[in-house]
Amino acid sequence: RILILDYGSQVTQLIARRVREAGVYCELHPGDVTDEFLKQQLSLGLKGIILSGSHASAYDADSLKVPGLVFELGVPVLGICYGMQSMAQQLGGEVSYSDHREFGYAEVRARGHTRLLKDIFDFTTPEGHGILKVWMSHGDSVSQLPPGFKLMASTESCPIAGMADEDRGFYAVQFHPEVTHTVQGQAILNRFVHDICGCVGDWTMPSYVDEAIEKIRQQVGDDEVILGLSGGVDSSVAAALIHRAIGDRLTCVFVDHGLLRLNEGAQVMETFAQNMGVKIIHVDATEQFMGKLAGVADPEAKRKIIGKEFVEVFQVEAAKLSKAKWLAQGTIYPDVIESAGAKTGKAVAIKSHHNVGGLPDTLNLKLLEPLRELFKDEVRKLGVALGLPPGMVYRHPFPGPGLGVRILGAVNKEFADLLRRADDVFIQELRNMIDPDTQKSWYDLTSQAFAVFLPVKSVGVMGDGRTYDYVVALRAVQTSDFMTADWAPLPYPLLAKVSSRIINEVRGINRVVYDVSSKPPATIEWE
Ligand code: XMP
Repeated sequence: RILILDYGSQVTQLIARRVREAGVYCELHPGDVTDEFLKQQLSLGLKGIILSGSHASAYDADSLKVPGLVFELGVPVLGICYGMQSMAQQLGGEVSYSDHREFGYAEVRARGHTRLLKDIFDFTTPEGHGILKVWMSHGDSVSQLPPGFKLMASTESCPIAGMADEDRGFYAVQFHPEVTHTVQGQAILNRFVHDICGCVGDWTMPSYVDEAIEKIRQQVGDDEVILGLSGGVDSSVAAALIHRAIGDRLTCVFVDHGLLRLNEGAQVMETFAQNMGVKIIHVDATEQFMGKLAGVADPEAKRKIIGKEFVEVFQVEAAKLSKAKWLAQGTIYPDVIESAGAKTGKAVAIKSHHNVGGLPDTLNLKLLEPLRELFKDEVRKLGVALGLPPGMVYRHPFPGPGLGVRILGAVNKEFADLLRRADDVFIQELRNMIDPDTQKSWYDLTSQAFAVFLPVKSVGVMGDGRTYDYVVALRAVQTSDFMTADWAPLPYPLLAKVSSRIINEVRGINRVVYDVSSKPPATIEWE
């Protein structure tokens, strides 16, 4: 196992992710762990330690210090950024302070042919230096190597960008191998955990299932747990995992707000209640939601109502389960970063997402968040390992307020029913049409696709008669992070089929348009 000590960098979780990708079990702990803890790790088979970066300076009096024992355990240590500076400072080198920071792309010359970097180069200069393309973020830097260390890498602005004491297995880099901008980052981390630490690399998602189950059992003991199941990937995977751990002591509450996709409620009940035997309370709260939403046109007001009603319905159900001591949530790592940003004011709240952090304040329950360390694609792999249907696990994301933000302006049941059917036609055809070049369906080639209901009427002609009906817009985007997105170049035959099917099959809609706006300046959703 590998131990990652966290000194507070934004990207520490990425180190864990890369180590998992290398097929190695790792644990992430705060940077000031005790000596007892370190000794215990050693007895559990610790093979190496990685010290993360930090937003702090190694000079700050209140910045976490690397425990001295880390360098005496006899296992290899890799210091990253702040981790490198701490290593230098604590082993007798020098760090020089700078109050301007430097971020971004850099080319690093790698020297000395250390085990860590040997042959992991993008290209080699005529003088024989290997070049690595990396992502740098530094203010302070090491200005003098500690005794026993040799220079491993340098850049123009940072003469000591990497150092190594190979006899003791100590390596350190100023750049960030864990971010994807560092082209050879995964190779460097693989080299560290496999070749230098001697980890085998046979750890897989199924082994994570066993560990996660054990952790949940220890955490909740004999208590009961309640979980708000939305049918989305995260809460579904959390439900499947917790059910595997504690069986009937988990109760899920599935609130149908009347703004779900076609047949979604039935599918959730089939997968969880019938196939997996999960205890589910299915609350059909359509009337209640529609009542509160009547006449409300403002998008943020609609989101707030849906969020508030959801909490209320959930609370009523939770109160009936008097034995439940834990509230489980499918919070995943990007949610943790996002809500941390919202709290510190770093990220501007452009839209209020009601599904993150809305529940716990009002309920007197302890929080259970078994997916907190995982990234979306890891959550999906976990879902498959738990036996959830791939069709559910690889579904496009669906917003908490559901069709409530896909019906422009005031929401009502008639509009929701029309939209549900149009959306279902679109999704079916995206799944049906296979792209000959990639052999993938257009559903898999898009990151998110859906129909939007426009409450305006336009004139059409059908048979001998004139129609005066509503418009549906199709939206399909390609994106890797949902922060920016391009509209998807769907083939014309696909658009033609979807359009004709919707107009023929969904009475009340006589016009279909395709949204060709990218984000920014448009957003993915229409509200
Ligand atoms: P936008 O529209 O902001 O969407 O480009 C980015 C991603 O966020 C989803 N989204 C939401 N998810 N509650 C959610 O749970 C919301 O209120 C909400 N609004 C947008 C959207 O579907 C897309 O994936």
